Amino acid sequence: MLETLNPQPQDKILQLIALFRDDPRDGKIDLGVGVYKDATGLTPVMRAVKAAEKRLWETEKTKTYTGLAGEPAYAAAMLGMILGNGFADRAAAIATPGGTGAIRQALELIKLATPGATVWISAPTWPNHPSIIKYLGMSMAEYRYFDAETRGVDFAGLMEDLARVAKGDVVLLHGCCHNPTGANLSAPQWAEVVALLSARGAVPMVDLAYQGFGDGLEEDAAATRLVAQSFPEVLIAASCSKNFGIYRERTGILIALTSADRKAVVQGNLNFLNRQNYSFPPDHGARLVTMILEDPALTADWKAELEEVRQNMLGLRKQLAEELRRATNSDRFDFVADHRGMFSRLGLTEAQVIRLRDEHAIYMVGDSRINIAGLNAQTVPVLAAAIASVCG
Ligand SMILES: Cc1ncc(COP(=O)(O)O)c(C=O)c1O
Repeated sequence: MLETLNPQPQDKILQLIALFRDDPRDGKIDLGVGVYKDATGLTPVMRAVKAAEKRLWETEKTKTYTGLAGEPAYAAAMLGMILGNGFADRAAAIATPGGTGAIRQALELIKLATPGATVWISAPTWPNHPSIIKYLGMSMAEYRYFDAETRGVDFAGLMEDLARVAKGDVVLLHGCCHNPTGANLSAPQWAEVVALLSARGAVPMVDLAYQGFGDGLEEDAAATRLVAQSFPEVLIAASCSKNFGIYRERTGILIALTSADRKAVVQGNLNFLNRQNYSFPPDHGARLVTMILEDPALTADWKAELEEVRQNMLGLRKQLAEELRRATNSDRFDFVADHRGMFSRLGLTEAQVIRLRDEHAIYMVGDSRINIAGLNAQTVPVLAAAIASVCG
């Protein structure tokens, strides 16, 4: 049986990690993989997470199964963090293994409800979106998103494409900190998108993987909250990997907003999907998140550290934009300071990306997406000079 399997194409980022690891050059710079790193290159365990883990070890009495949906306290805490108050009566939710698990379950739910539904994704988007949609055999369409000239959002193109969305189609939106581009809709643009999609009868699905990495914890939830209050049905796939720094604990949630009348049936279907895929969701990370969000002192410490992380990335963005201005004697990279989140797509050619790797030991994804957090104050000028040299 297994001899019929074909090799799968290698994941580009994992390939890049291997190339970087095997590069013997001193001073090599990794801007590929999407994890937050501090100035020393470490992806730290956050202080509040450490404190919660210690407390959990001291107080946990059992590791028996949790519920199929995970712990209700986790869902309540996450609902509060993402949407604030006022949605509990129409929110069904399941804990999932990471944001990826939530996306997978959201797509499974769509397929279960409407097997023929088309899912619209931004061009470009996080490669796992189209990959899972294709794997599930679902219909997919793309809407324009990135303007290669300005490196901002191609808003006219986006609106033109979304005007073709049919009633019942699902539109996948990045709640904040668009991956891979770093370019995001402004608040007035979000309002226009919401009005258009409402008029089309679309079902929004929000991927929220970087809440707190862009403009702030509350600010980054604003678009998701607008969507939540504007549509009768909304799917939200959220990840705690980045904002709690618990990547390997696999902590995410899928929230399905529906009517109060349909909530029980939707919840039953979500539980069913968890049962089919892995029975009970992982609990350790979810429990840490719950403990942090339920304890005012831990919440305050976590928010303060998350804000340090966000400010660090903002500072690097500003520094990089300034260094690039100096090195290229132009304003063509000013957009780096306007982008938000961990990533920016620089708009370099694939040949320039390869030259950066070969000649300067600087590693980024082929589409010229860089992880801002892979930089520090010392490497920013090195990157700027290298970019100037390959663009010259
Ligand atoms: C846009 C986007 N969505 C979802 C995820 C899911 O993250 P995880 O499954 O690690 O929680 C990521 C992670 O890189 C992402 O970039």
